[in-house]
Amino acid sequence: MAIFVTCVITAACGADTSEAGDTSATEPPRAQTAEVTAPTSTAAALVIPDGAEVYQQYCAECHGADLRGTDKGPSQLSIVYEPNHHGDFAYRAAIRDGTREHHWWFGDMPPVEGISDLEIEKVISFIRAEQQRLGFEE
Ligand code: HEC
Repeated sequence: MAIFVTCVITAACGADTSEAGDTSATEPPRAQTAEVTAPTSTAAALVIPDGAEVYQQYCAECHGADLRGTDKGPSQLSIVYEPNHHGDFAYRAAIRDGTREHHWWFGDMPPVEGISDLEIEKVISFIRAEQQRLGFEE
């Protein structure tokens, strides 16, 4: 092992000295290239939105950071929003087009501006998972 490392360094140094005076001597020594191969899995995390973050950005103001509602909107854990009563289709429609006041007394829900289709799917998955995890309020 020690011998191998020495060889790499020697080769790199040798290359440098043999090309001394050449402008290409600014090239990085070969030994450095061995460190470069960390997998770049963070790239995927940057493009796929996180449902919890989408919720906090677009919904929490009215439906509450903990999903339990505010004075501007109802709890997403109300039994009214269980999937058989408000399916994912109703979610998509409410997010894109808003909805008139009909179940509560908070006023209308306006269309959510600036949210992408992918963010809509992610936020619905997040809310469904939270409904399962926390259970519905009676
Ligand atoms: C400006 C406040 C506001 C924001 C922001 C908001 N909502 Fe609402 N939302 C409401 C109100 C108020 C209602 C209740 C309307 C009623 O039934 O009386 C509602 C109702 C809903 C409904 C039920 C729709 C139906 O068909 O009865 C869903 C689903 C919903 N919101 C999801 C969301 C999601 C998901 C977000 C974020 C992407 C969001 N809302 C953002 C105020 C808001």
